[in-house]
Amino acid sequence: MLKIDGVSRSFGDVIALDGVSLEIGQGEFFALLGPSGCGKTTLLRIIAGFERPDAGSVSLDGADLLGTPPNRRPISLMFQSYALFPHMTVAKNVAYGLERERLPKQEVRQRVGEVLETVGLSAHAARKPAQLSGGQRQRVALARSIVKRPRLLLLDEPLSALDKKVRADMQLELKRLQHDVGITFVVVTHDQEEAMSLADRIAVFDNGHVRQVDEPVSLYERPRTPFVADFVGANNLFHGTAGGLDGIKSERFGMLAGTPLEELAAEAGALLAVRPEKIELADGGASSGLAGAVLDVSFYGGVSHVSVEVPGHPKPVLVAVQGAATVRPGAEVKVRWAAEDAVIMAADQ
Ligand SMILES: Nc1ncnc2c1ncn2[C@@H]1O[C@H](COP(=O)(O)OP(=O)(O)OP(=O)(O)O)[C@@H](O)[C@H]1O
Ligand SMILES: [Mg+2]
Repeated sequence: MLKIDGVSRSFGDVIALDGVSLEIGQGEFFALLGPSGCGKTTLLRIIAGFERPDAGSVSLDGADLLGTPPNRRPISLMFQSYALFPHMTVAKNVAYGLERERLPKQEVRQRVGEVLETVGLSAHAARKPAQLSGGQRQRVALARSIVKRPRLLLLDEPLSALDKKVRADMQLELKRLQHDVGITFVVVTHDQEEAMSLADRIAVFDNGHVRQVDEPVSLYERPRTPFVADFVGANNLFHGTAGGLDGIKSERFGMLAGTPLEELAAEAGALLAVRPEKIELADGGASSGLAGAVLDVSFYGGVSHVSVEVPGHPKPVLVAVQGAATVRPGAEVKVRWAAEDAVIMAADQ
């Protein structure tokens, strides 16, 4: 439905987007994930028409978008810092865009009523924004974005202003809303858990480049570039050189077990990534594994995190165990994992 092809945009010396290509399908919940300053907002502004790319094309349903002014595109953008009109009621805030289009009063009233119902704010229609909680204000902003029935709704960090609990509620709400209204959503976030819990597919951005586009589970289990392996979820990373089909050769540790996602040239630089929950914590006397000492144990309820100092490895190895951990700081242990539970990728991407 939405096709972004080779889009680049620079501001002076800063390259905000460098040849970005993406295809987003009808009805998809799509997330753009990446650290601050990597070009996410710039891409949304180009799709919405508030910014022009230096190169590349953007089309919707096969028709070029770049020649269409923002107000003629069937697209809504909810800004990173959205502002409600403080002197208007909730209903007026939501009606504003429709009134500007001079729709008949009766239709405006009906559509505003329906949308407020959808976001669960019918009872608050007559309030002013100052009389609402942060989560409720967020809902008004959402209502205002969907009342115009766009084909595509772009949301820039929609939940970043909310505290953790409200945020979790609103994530569920947003998913339900997208399902109910059937509009294609593109949401920007720098929170990888949020992206994974919300989206059908995620594009990971790094410095103006798309590093991987995948479904959340694939992104987590099969990161294809070092940046994605490091940015999405906790990971233990080991450097070495390609070592065939079942591992990498590490200068310090010898052969480390893992599975290459694609064939690597012999002796090519390789990175092995293994998730904390895939590592087994074995007794210090075990016959295999990397020897280390427990640095710290943190209990989180359902899981415990054990960090293990492995001499020769620059960072503590993070191990997640179910429930309460039985080891104590200072204990001599070995960490090991199965080849199928670690992924190997080329180091230079
Ligand atoms: N109008 C502008 N003039 C100059 N530089 C800009 C402009 N807009 C964006 N930039 C620069 O382009 C880069 C990408 O900015 P962008 O706002 O797209 O990042 P972002 O991924 O949305 O970051 P954040 O997560 O912090 O919102 C940044 O280095 C930013 O400083
Ligand atoms: Mg931004």
